[in-house]
Amino acid sequence: MLLLDGRPVRDAVFDELAKKVAGASRAPGLAVILVGDDPASRVYVRNKEKGCDKIGFLHRTHRLDADTDQATILALVDDLNRDPAIDGILIQMPLPSHLDSDRILAAVDPAKDVDGFHPVNLGLLVTGKPNTVACTPKGVLRMLAHYDIPVSGRRVAVVGRSVIVGRPMSLLLNLKGQMGDATVTMCHSRTPELPAVTREADILVAALGVPEFLRREHVAPGAVVVDVGINRVDDPSAKKGYRLVGDVAAAEMDGHAGALTPVPGGVGPMTIAMLLENTWEAMQRREGGDRD
Ligand code: GUN
Repeated sequence: MLLLDGRPVRDAVFDELAKKVAGASRAPGLAVILVGDDPASRVYVRNKEKGCDKIGFLHRTHRLDADTDQATILALVDDLNRDPAIDGILIQMPLPSHLDSDRILAAVDPAKDVDGFHPVNLGLLVTGKPNTVACTPKGVLRMLAHYDIPVSGRRVAVVGRSVIVGRPMSLLLNLKGQMGDATVTMCHSRTPELPAVTREADILVAALGVPEFLRREHVAPGAVVVDVGINRVDDPSAKKGYRLVGDVAAAEMDGHAGALTPVPGGVGPMTIAMLLENTWEAMQRREGGDRD
């Protein structure tokens, strides 16, 4: 079984962006809003900051208390929408439950929505004319292209229908064109006889957020398995008291699947690379230049 390592693919994207930034008139700027102290979100945000530092992007993280009210966040988003130094705005999800996530995401200027979560950007994807596309699905496609795994004409099952991953992933794979043209089955944890459905797939994308949910019985022999899940499970023997596992029972894939993205080190690094690429592209569009 081939392990699809995301890190060299991320590094290549970083190198290319760093070169572009070195020749640019100013650094692209990314603002992150992090509300509360969800441990996983803190790690993700820290990694985003490290990525920005590495390639010369300006970044600003607004760390807000868990009980920050809606009006304060909307006012901050409004400020960032107007700030000329900021090209990309990212609201780290999930937000605490007292906040209206849909309203906050919709308040971001679509031109600065580097996550692709704004209804306008999701709508453009639905119409087949995507502008900014969500980082994780975009990263999955980039990774498959890097490892010469075609999607065109193949059967792909996407398990999970979140706005962050599953739904845009299905739409992207289904687009007309070289990195689309797949026959996509959108399924989820309530799909009846899921193993029989997913076993039809040449490529299986697991994005439902349940640790080790997909087992050997879900996977056709030789299939390519893309594991988007990053779940913390308690492990007293680990230094941190937990370990990271994906949505796929990785140990069961050995000797069965054709290829697998590991967790960690598979899709995760690609998400950050695509976020920074989206930020660069947002800057190019705001400056009225071309996309390269
Ligand atoms: N939470 C988990 N993944 C993501 C992501 O890609 N973007 C944001 N904003 N929040 C997330």
